[in-house]
Amino acid sequence: MELSLEQVKNVLLAYRQEHVIERLEQLPVQAQQKLAAQIAQIEFETLFRAIDRHKDPRAVGTLGTERIAPIAYENWNDYDEKQQQAYGELGWALLRSGKVGAVVVAGGQGSRLGSSGPKGTIDIGLPSGKSLFQLQAERLLYLSKRAGRNIPWYVMTSPVNHKATETFFQAADYFGYTAADIVFFSQQTMPVLDHDGKLLFAEEGKLLLAPSGPGECFASMRKSGVIEDMKQRGVEWLFYYNVDNALIKVADPDFLGVAAAHANPIATKVIEKHDPNEKIGIVCTKNGQPAVVEYTEISEDVKRARSKDGQLEYHLGNISIHAFQLDFIEQHADSDLVYHVASKRMEYIDDKGVRVQPAEPNAYKLERFIFDLFPMASGLTVLKTERDEQFAPVKNRSGEDSPQTARELVLRLHSKWLKAAGIAVQEGKLDQIEISPLQSYAGEGLLERKFMERP
Ligand code: UTP
Repeated sequence: MELSLEQVKNVLLAYRQEHVIERLEQLPVQAQQKLAAQIAQIEFETLFRAIDRHKDPRAVGTLGTERIAPIAYENWNDYDEKQQQAYGELGWALLRSGKVGAVVVAGGQGSRLGSSGPKGTIDIGLPSGKSLFQLQAERLLYLSKRAGRNIPWYVMTSPVNHKATETFFQAADYFGYTAADIVFFSQQTMPVLDHDGKLLFAEEGKLLLAPSGPGECFASMRKSGVIEDMKQRGVEWLFYYNVDNALIKVADPDFLGVAAAHANPIATKVIEKHDPNEKIGIVCTKNGQPAVVEYTEISEDVKRARSKDGQLEYHLGNISIHAFQLDFIEQHADSDLVYHVASKRMEYIDDKGVRVQPAEPNAYKLERFIFDLFPMASGLTVLKTERDEQFAPVKNRSGEDSPQTARELVLRLHSKWLKAAGIAVQEGKLDQIEISPLQSYAGEGLLERKFMERP
């Protein structure tokens, strides 16, 4: 939107951003115009609607008036062997015919982790020293090799980490993946406000912007031509996942088979919540539609509710592993999804030009979530899977959900595979043995293969 400097100042006044006017007036003319243009892009109405909603706990999730109920699901372990095989074969058929793509949402800033580079570049301390991106690339390589064709891999970055992500892949020679089959695209951003609702600055004359959540994924795919790319390649199902899950079974054929066998445009993998306070959202229905309620928006009553058999009533945990039909993505990519507000630690430049590095959350960040598309689906296939085979989140620098816990979960799973294959391992060495994703995807074929061990 084109606005004159006076109009920009009026907008700022209307939204009580007097401090921005002051800083604007101190700038040289050219810089003034640049900042004014940045401000003219801001949808203040949307920004403050989201923050007001956040401040009124009765308006969100199960804290509000929305009617939620448990959702129907299927459990992978309840299928008999024949059924499991049939689903697996269906998934493999999709991979072999090039109908599957994978997208990793890697535009986050990892503020809790506190690392400076993109989250996917971190080494969680496995014996091989492989980064999260490398583990994912090798799992995809393994499947691609067996399927006889490459799975296109879409990597969503943000303006903050786009360059660093691409450079990391280039330097590693794309981990052996065909470069033309990895497509990087960047997501959008939103301005960041402090807890008093004031816009923050990244540098003099430039507002602080932050990636506006993984829910921007499909809109950004459309904008950057990725949807077109998928259509040209004949992709029908898109496997969606978070960059920070060290156990992610990227493009899992079993899951894709289940997705394709059901007449729903979206499928989601869930795990059993192990504690009512676990920091993952719940998959349920909201006002009769499939939905996820974020852990920050679940009321205490709902969190703790138990059915007669003592099981948590809302026990299906969202682990951000979904499969979307391309038709659905095309139809809903530009949906006006709600913004969720999170309080985060965000570095900024104060009005004296000093860089501030807060120790505690100091700012509101607005994020869209991909699961807010669920209510638009005619139905949702919910597949329960085993936590220890699927989920090793890397969120915090230490303690729970940290690189260390993720490392342990990966090595524990690998030792379980070895045991199941009847391979004896020297006492005390089990937690040092890592199986390369290039050798085995889910514990298969270990007897015929070599696996690696730290010398
Ligand atoms: P998180 O919610 O854990 O956010 O992201 P984060 O930015 O990585 O970490 P914190 O909260 O600042 O500590 C879950 C997934 O969504 C991606 C992340 O990269 C991660 O894969 N994400 C998050 C985006 O792609 N874009 C965003 O704007 C936010």
